[in-house]
Amino acid sequence: MVRIADILHGGHTGRELELKGWIYRTRSVGGKVFVVLRDDTGILQATISKDAVPADAFAAIAKALIESAVTVRGTVVEDKRAPGGFEIRATGVLVVHFAEKFPIQEDLSEEFLLDVRHLWVRSQRMTRIFRVRHATFAAVHEYFRDQGFWEVHPPMITPAGSEGGATLFEVEYFGRKAYLTQSWQLYAEALALAMSKVYYIGPSFRAEKSRTTRHLTEYWHAEMEQAWAGMDDVIKHAESVIAHACHRVAEACPGDVAALGRPPEVLKAVRAPFERLTYDEALRILKAKGMDLEWGKDLRTLEERALTEGKAQPIIVTHYPRVSQAFYKARDPTRPDLVLGFDVIGGDGVGEIVGGSERETDLETIRKSLVDQGEDPKAYGWYLDSRRYGSVPHAGFGMGMERLIQWICKLEHIRDAVPFPRTPARFAP
Ligand code: 4AD
Ligand code: MG
Repeated sequence: MVRIADILHGGHTGRELELKGWIYRTRSVGGKVFVVLRDDTGILQATISKDAVPADAFAAIAKALIESAVTVRGTVVEDKRAPGGFEIRATGVLVVHFAEKFPIQEDLSEEFLLDVRHLWVRSQRMTRIFRVRHATFAAVHEYFRDQGFWEVHPPMITPAGSEGGATLFEVEYFGRKAYLTQSWQLYAEALALAMSKVYYIGPSFRAEKSRTTRHLTEYWHAEMEQAWAGMDDVIKHAESVIAHACHRVAEACPGDVAALGRPPEVLKAVRAPFERLTYDEALRILKAKGMDLEWGKDLRTLEERALTEGKAQPIIVTHYPRVSQAFYKARDPTRPDLVLGFDVIGGDGVGEIVGGSERETDLETIRKSLVDQGEDPKAYGWYLDSRRYGSVPHAGFGMGMERLIQWICKLEHIRDAVPFPRTPARFAP
């Protein structure tokens, strides 16, 4: 099957071919119908003249509405007046399905477009993002596999969370309580003692009630865990996997990212190492900008914005205060009030793209942290075995795929980074 992108790259000029697609736009002028067709790769104009096709075929295409399914046979010609610089001059046309009046016309509200998301996914904006998403997922798999990581999968139904009870989705499991996974992390730590370098990309669930432009309740999480490694080792992987994804997207979909507002040159220029600050340094920079954040508090959106303002690539903040950090993060041996944890923070309001840390290896310290955070260490018995049998220094991180795509595509809202977003307000369509 011929794809529109190949025609627009000049690969079929002068050839007679058949194109299958849907009507993106149509107008009739005199004895001609100008139909802009779309497929999965782009849009292309077909010019259908009354005297070039059979009379019944012309009558059919003249009355076909937007989103009707059509096949056009004809010759590809270069024409500066057509969108994209090419068009098909039709010698035959068939309306395969006459669409009813399409509900999406111009200037519709965001809420309406979310109601008809199953139709809005056909838009040029969404299909551009899907192509970028496709390239981003491929790049992340490629990076970890090339670096010698094994893809190993965790369960989605779990007996306990790793990121705190407040965002756990409860599942009724044959009369018992279970939870949807927030992160593969606890399983990853067990698996790293079996397979040393492991990664996976899969869904994570957060019962996150806050309505923000960067939270979903269901998102795709790329996570890695590495045995015999510390925080600096995994920070290098975090920077490199992001840079690799940016480069691959810039090669695979330069037109798409440009149209979405991120010039491909900017993506090509993303390079490790990223600028790195400690949490304490970040607080000093914020103070100089007139923003006082109490020591120990997490960086909020406005502080992350201030730190990334004017930066062409994400930055890294390390050594967060231990208070309010997850129980598994390793203490900084030189500053026990800090953890060997880091975040990669993207600009344009995207914020935290990656969260990771070296892991605490001392059994008693973890047990105490669990109790301090109101958790029952008994629920984590199997996890604590990773500190009983051949424990080694290890570290890992989780990267929100939609946050990365949001940054790459410069999207205002994370919901557009995924075809069918799940947010507190909706789980349909
Ligand atoms: O910072 P988080 O909560 O860290 C973890 O889950 C660790 N266990 C990861 C690990 O070390 N293996 O989440 C990791 C990343 C965040 O940096 C963010 O990009 C993304 O997951 N994320 C979300 N993305 C969309 N919607 C949400 N509600 C998200 N919550 C976290
Ligand atoms: Mg985090």
